Amino acid sequence: MTRWHLAVALLFAVGCDDPPAGDPVELPSLDAGPTADAALEPAPDAEAEIAPDAAPDAALPPAYTLPTFANMATAVDLDPDPDRVEIELHAAGTTLDIGGMRVPVRVYDGTLPGPLIQAKVGDEVVVRFQNDLSTATTIHWHGLRISDQMDGNPRIQEPVEADGSFEYRFVVPEAGSFWYHPHVRSHEQIEQGLYGPLVVHDPADPVVDAERFMVIDDILLDEGGRPLPYLASHPEEMHGRHGNILLANGDVAPQTFDAREGGVERWRIVNTANARTFTLRLSGAQFRVVATDGGRIDAPYAVEELRVAVGQRFDLEVRYDAPGEAMVEAEVPVLDEAGDVVLAPFPLYRATVAATGEAPRVIDWPPVEVAPRGVDRDEVMTFDGVNGPSGVRWRISGLDDPEAPLYTFAEGETVRMTITNEQAQEHPFHLHGQWFRVLSHPDPYPVVGLKDTVLVPGNATVEIEAYFDNPGRWMAHCHILEHAALGMMGEIVVTPAE
Ligand code: C2O
Ligand code: CU
Repeated sequence: MTRWHLAVALLFAVGCDDPPAGDPVELPSLDAGPTADAALEPAPDAEAEIAPDAAPDAALPPAYTLPTFANMATAVDLDPDPDRVEIELHAAGTTLDIGGMRVPVRVYDGTLPGPLIQAKVGDEVVVRFQNDLSTATTIHWHGLRISDQMDGNPRIQEPVEADGSFEYRFVVPEAGSFWYHPHVRSHEQIEQGLYGPLVVHDPADPVVDAERFMVIDDILLDEGGRPLPYLASHPEEMHGRHGNILLANGDVAPQTFDAREGGVERWRIVNTANARTFTLRLSGAQFRVVATDGGRIDAPYAVEELRVAVGQRFDLEVRYDAPGEAMVEAEVPVLDEAGDVVLAPFPLYRATVAATGEAPRVIDWPPVEVAPRGVDRDEVMTFDGVNGPSGVRWRISGLDDPEAPLYTFAEGETVRMTITNEQAQEHPFHLHGQWFRVLSHPDPYPVVGLKDTVLVPGNATVEIEAYFDNPGRWMAHCHILEHAALGMMGEIVVTPAE
């Protein structure tokens, strides 16, 4: 089924006859990408991230040294304590050169994406946030199981006003690949560039030759590089905002870099787009998924195609077993000569792999212990959309009152949730503050490991098993930001155990 068909089906489903305009994207030409050099330079702040030398006492394990990411600017840790990370982060509007256009953006610390924040499991992280935007905002730490007071939920935290500041402070409980973004008018603020990656390292993880964070996005601009108005079209209300420019780490894709035959790398992928699900084709190396939203998975699996919904993360082990070119390409719908929508590959990342004749080593990823849990409760959740007086309204379980909790669970409860999407538009469902596993899914892709975001395809049912171990008030919403803005946003209350 093409996106166009999906669009038509959905339009019928909500009883609306507007044409499903605007779906095929016009993509920028392939040679508009950044130069290779930018990607090769080590992060300027790499030194500041290096932990002090190991204590001379031989009984102590050597101090863990945070890896340097080859393709990212890194936030500077101002605290010399190896178990505390303290950074300053400020949000501000500026203009950036994107594909030769001067584009007005809002970003963290002047870069797109915002600087990579790094810590190791158990570290205390302090982020001194300064809001230099003209509007209020918060920061949500997508995927971190921290206190709801620090989660950037604007119903709990008074949003940080223009010129205001706030100190976020939390302990990072688990290793994994995460990201941060606002939770106030997120369909505008994230689209404008407010997002950045965050990695919590497990010092016991195998060491690789290079780590890279692939931050994938699309943005919708007019020919002059100005953002088109937000939520101003019916297709955008229906499908979310699909951009016409694909970004790889903040610049027009593809991002290019050098690698060498025999090398083994870890690539962490996050989709920060407002709405677009990326289907990625991987070629030119051996790729295995080794981690996802909730960190390492038990059994790594080989992939040549990966579906990444907005908000989700996948970590790949990349083994360069041949010289040539290794690529990550996105399948995107385009118009062919006959005017039909077809899927075409579009390069996002391209590595030039130098010949060495060496074979990449084999990494034995230690298995992840999973304690089985019994199900305490069965619940259902439904997704639908209706035509309201002011346009499309998206709903979770038919709820129209955003103040009323969707569910209340007790801390420690394991809930099997059957999620049914009653219409044709897909919804990447995201739950704050907890993990879940996917028990059944209609897609032909493996969905393993602990997740915080699952794609619920159109007219389909997905079953999850959610572990409500983190008490508090938690947002639960569609990560298509336009859907969330139009009602697909609720709250799950987890009452603390005595
Ligand atoms: Cu990525 Cu509610 O967030
Ligand atoms: Cu949705």
